Amino acid sequence: MTDPVRRRILVTSALPYANGSIHFGHLVEYIQTDIWVRFQKLRSHEVHYVCADDTHGTAIMLRAEKEGIAPQALIERVWREHKRDFDGFLVDFDHYGSTDDDATRTIAYHIYETLRDAAKLITTRSVEQFYDPVKQLFLPDRFIKGECPKCGAKDQYGDSCEVCGATYAPTDLKNPYSTVSGAAPVRKASEHYFFALSDPRCRAFLQQWTQHGDRLQPEARNKIREWFDQGLNDWDISRDAPYFGFEIPGAPGKYFYVWLDAPVGYLGSFRNLAQARGLDFAAFADAGKAQAEGTEMVHFIGKDILYFHALFWPAMLQFAGYRTPSKVYAHGFLTVNGEKMSKSRGTFITAESYLKLGLNPEWLRYYYAAKLGAGMEDIDLNLDDFTSRVNSDLVGKYVNIASRAAGFIAKRFGGRLAATPESDTLRALREAAPAIAMLFEGREYSKALREVMLLADRANQFVDLEKPWELAKQPGAEARLHAVCTEAIALFRLLTVYLKPVLPAVAARVEAFLGVPPLAWADAATDLPEGHRIQAYQHLMARIDPKQVEALVEANRESLKPAPESHSPQRHAQHQENAVNQSTNPPAAAPAAEAAPTTPTISIDDFMKVDLRVARVADAQHVEGAEKLVKLTLDLGGEQRQVFAGIKAHYDPEALKGRLVVMVANLAPRKMRFGESQGMVLAASAEGSGVFLLDADSGAQPGMRVK
Ligand code: MSP
Ligand code: ZN
Repeated sequence: MTDPVRRRILVTSALPYANGSIHFGHLVEYIQTDIWVRFQKLRSHEVHYVCADDTHGTAIMLRAEKEGIAPQALIERVWREHKRDFDGFLVDFDHYGSTDDDATRTIAYHIYETLRDAAKLITTRSVEQFYDPVKQLFLPDRFIKGECPKCGAKDQYGDSCEVCGATYAPTDLKNPYSTVSGAAPVRKASEHYFFALSDPRCRAFLQQWTQHGDRLQPEARNKIREWFDQGLNDWDISRDAPYFGFEIPGAPGKYFYVWLDAPVGYLGSFRNLAQARGLDFAAFADAGKAQAEGTEMVHFIGKDILYFHALFWPAMLQFAGYRTPSKVYAHGFLTVNGEKMSKSRGTFITAESYLKLGLNPEWLRYYYAAKLGAGMEDIDLNLDDFTSRVNSDLVGKYVNIASRAAGFIAKRFGGRLAATPESDTLRALREAAPAIAMLFEGREYSKALREVMLLADRANQFVDLEKPWELAKQPGAEARLHAVCTEAIALFRLLTVYLKPVLPAVAARVEAFLGVPPLAWADAATDLPEGHRIQAYQHLMARIDPKQVEALVEANRESLKPAPESHSPQRHAQHQENAVNQSTNPPAAAPAAEAAPTTPTISIDDFMKVDLRVARVADAQHVEGAEKLVKLTLDLGGEQRQVFAGIKAHYDPEALKGRLVVMVANLAPRKMRFGESQGMVLAASAEGSGVFLLDADSGAQPGMRVK
């Protein structure tokens, strides 16, 4: 049953960005990889599954700054959140690291220095980029917005318009502004470092590497051929300070672009694992040694990051003397109910929300597996189908078999099995093992599970036909009852082996119930011996209640503003270069424990009736005789308003002068004892808490509309 050769495989999933929560889209990948890894381990191969947080870049630096913490503190917190979510979904990394770490730095430096000194593939040249003169920062594309050059829609990102769908370059935007400071960006030149991908040696190597052999899926190979036809450009691998990342050796003030050290994080994470477990790092990483020892390196990625993994990464490795990937397996993107994940629809579902609501992670593992194939097509999570599929397959078909047989074994035969009878059904289930194994190996999980469910149908038919509940009442049918129930248990045990890569926790409960050590793939060839004692049947898996799925969608619905879905999962490779950190999905509004429930949904038109403006506090005074009020004079950029705000207990008027606040500018004026209040300033508060005025990032100007 087990391959004669013990394979030695280093497996990776893409490193999630350290500035967003793990969501259902991510989970497609980590669950897909975890199933493959568990399958290989069940086959007794040597497998090391590593991953890490991808921690560098402008977006993470700015987010930390906004939160008022060091980037290291931010990535450390997110690391714990990510690890918690992966553990929750039973994604079993052998090591989960961080790219902001010594091992990754050391290897990145070694690769870079070899490329520079030995391979002579590093060049420099001056590059003009958008620069934020207020923040004094070069701006990645996604931090620039402006008016669509085609339809004039405001606040569009630098690559495409969400209103009319036009695509363009950031330089085409009209009235561009920096989303960091609000300032108009200027163009500024600086020296950048490049990896010379256009060098004939790289081109020749990549032609061969991508177009021959079976390292890539056929669709991926085709895609890459298109990229070849467009010509390979040198790759800009440096960014100027300020940047959160690794400073480039010999280039003070220049940092590796996050995508340079991100894949190196695979090796960094593995080096830490190797150190901890006494493994031979070089056997998996060094070109000569890996070839001599026949080790493999397999990457699972989303189709959006193919360019990096099929071109940049192998070229870097090749010319720095490292082994190149054995396989790069790209998967498609997740849609929910046939559409792009959406915060307003509640289908941008976080891993955390699912776990918090107590839904069973193996439901999702099963459903994803039932949808996944070897190709790069998108996969759809249909929430109704999710419920019915899991309930009918797992609860209705699989778990059912054990529950139908176990009671009789316990009550009538002291928990002991009879000799397992050889039957056509049992033989059919056993002989399916190699075919199912081949499907798991080839990542054809949906086909594998279809096979397994057909076998479960056969097992149920066997029980239906033999009717143990009737045998139990027939005098003299004792031996027959024992044999039938023993066979049903044997069938159930085989199905459990086949489902174990997908349902590891259920399998562990089955192992306890059967009183056996952890099942391996090879166990499909054998039966439990006569007289083997099994434990009392315990419930293995509950049905999904549709209400749980409704609650999940509700928990993820962001009702106030239709989120600009600009963190679109469908990112194109050609946009990646400057988009340092496209996946800056802010954590879905996780309701704070004591937050009040949100009020009913309103339309965007309702919301737009409220004219919110940025205002500068021109003056702030105590109000004689007022217990709670401060009198604010607000500058709306050309217009002044007088507003009485109930913040005396929380703010010293002196400290308010000059700062920016957000006000409701079209609130009906109100006569108060001390004068007329012509608007309202926005502040957050809760029962028993302080009062916290809203602020606007520097660069916002008095009078700007808030929407
Ligand atoms: N940090 C980079 C990867 C660096 S690898 C050296 C990155 N991070 S990510 O957080 O945006 O995505 C991590 C993985 O999840 C990627 O492989 C990505 O394709 C995958 N997915 C992110 N959103 C997804 C969906 N909506 N659907 C399916 N996979 C998705 O990219
Ligand atoms: Zn437009």
